[in-house]
Amino acid sequence: MSIDAMRENYDSPPFLEADAHADPIEQFRVWFEEVWRGGQQREPNAMTLATCTKDGAPSARIVLLKGYDQNGFVFYTNYESAKAKELEGNPVAALVFYWESLSRTVRISGNVSKVSREQTEAYFKTRPRGSQLGAWASPQSEVIDGREALQRRFDEVNEQYTDRDVPAPPHWGGYRVTPTTLEFWQGQTSRLHDRLRYTRKADSDTWTRQRLAP
Ligand SMILES: Cc1cc2nc3c(=O)[nH]c(=O)nc-3n(C[C@H](O)[C@H](O)[C@H](O)COP(=O)(O)O)c2cc1C
Repeated sequence: MSIDAMRENYDSPPFLEADAHADPIEQFRVWFEEVWRGGQQREPNAMTLATCTKDGAPSARIVLLKGYDQNGFVFYTNYESAKAKELEGNPVAALVFYWESLSRTVRISGNVSKVSREQTEAYFKTRPRGSQLGAWASPQSEVIDGREALQRRFDEVNEQYTDRDVPAPPHWGGYRVTPTTLEFWQGQTSRLHDRLRYTRKADSDTWTRQRLAP
């Protein structure tokens, strides 16, 4: 099979400095709300999360963005998973969103920390019961004997919590990526795409902005 489904051109309006927010988090908000409202992507909050072992071996997977503000971008996961072990040893990460319907990507890189236990517990309460039980049942990233073993664990916790609220497991919670750089990419014609990169000035909440060649 040849992979030749190349797009001739991207036909979105350009992304110019004059239109870009001085604050990249506000710029993210503008783009995120546009893709969300557009409704053409079922999970525009799905993002690639790249992590790295201490000695530099990278890995990446998809997670869901569950909140963002000036402090960073939050996702939830198992604190004993492969990604969590990498983050333990090397607390930096990169995120990539691809919003095909708008020909846009956003790339974020930064430092990673755990969110507070209160924040994790408040979010866990909003999850569907099945997902809550799944968080207890699945030893994420470990080798398991088979699907039946997983189902058995699920049934056990389901029984354990009959008629009770399911608490957040201690091995489950949120991480926040506090960005040091954000890049906004807007596809354009003839591959002359727009790329604006924001870099946080050391120890401050102010940003420099540069245009990068596509
Ligand atoms: C659309 C989508 C959303 C996902 N969201 C999450 C998530 O929010 N948290 C999570 O731990 N895994 C999520 N996953 C599963 C991860 O991609 C991955 O399989 C899992 O976290 C194990 O990764 P690890 O072994 O590298 O730690 C999602 C997968 C998909 C396809």
